Amino acid sequence: MDAAPQDPARQDPARQDPARPAPAPQAPAPQAPAPQGPAETAPAETAPALALTVTSAEGMRDLGRRLAKLLRAGDLVMLSGELGAGKTTLTRGLGEGLGVRGAVTSPTFVIARVHPSLGDGPPLVHVDAYRLGGGLDEMEDLDLDVSLPDSVIVVEWGEGKVEELTEDRLHLRIDRATGGTGAAGATTDTSATDATEDDVRRVTLTGLGARWSTADLNSLAA
Ligand SMILES: Nc1ncnc2c1ncn2[C@@H]1O[C@H](COP(=O)(O)OP(=O)(O)OP(=O)(O)O)[C@@H](O)[C@H]1O
Ligand SMILES: [Mg+2]
Repeated sequence: MDAAPQDPARQDPARQDPARPAPAPQAPAPQAPAPQGPAETAPAETAPALALTVTSAEGMRDLGRRLAKLLRAGDLVMLSGELGAGKTTLTRGLGEGLGVRGAVTSPTFVIARVHPSLGDGPPLVHVDAYRLGGGLDEMEDLDLDVSLPDSVIVVEWGEGKVEELTEDRLHLRIDRATGGTGAAGATTDTSATDATEDDVRRVTLTGLGARWSTADLNSLAA
């Protein structure tokens, strides 16, 4: 008679251990207001902000392509701005500039998507934190098959959720510049003649931490 094959997992006492504590209940965290005042993790250095005017979606994509040249593994880029501001459009250009695989799209069903490099550069991790309730812990649970310190991480809607990743952050705020006076600052694309007011965006870049205190963001205005 053949013996039945042994499944080692079935022999693992930890799997059935009644003494193991039950997992903590996953109750939603109360919506406590974010603490005001200086954050404990406030970066020591803040580079001056750079303001740009971008007059078309193609111009936003081009800004992403040029920004990609300044990025390296371990960088965290946070994108803020209302729905339809252009965060994903800029990220698409970033993906093109970094030379990664797969078109960057609005991830409807996934919170994060990894775009591996087509060359030997870092992968792009594109996070849409809009539905990310629990912040970083939840992101770690996503089990991304990539090391975050070895990646360029771009996060939409990440305020108050992913800052713990690193105190060196590049923050881009994209605002619709309707209502007139959005023309201040450098205009970075040449399709301005076709621009309708609806397409005009103000992009404010702020580098936080030592990483960005010396980076030449001004090259983006050229
Ligand atoms: N100057 C501009 N920059 C970026 N997008 C523009 C611009 N002008 C028009 N658009 C259009 O606005 C839309 C921006 O959509 P996009 O998905 O990039 O926004 P989003 O900020 O990622 O929104 P969400 O918060 O829903 O993820 C696109 O349809 C794009 O073609
Ligand atoms: Mg988006």
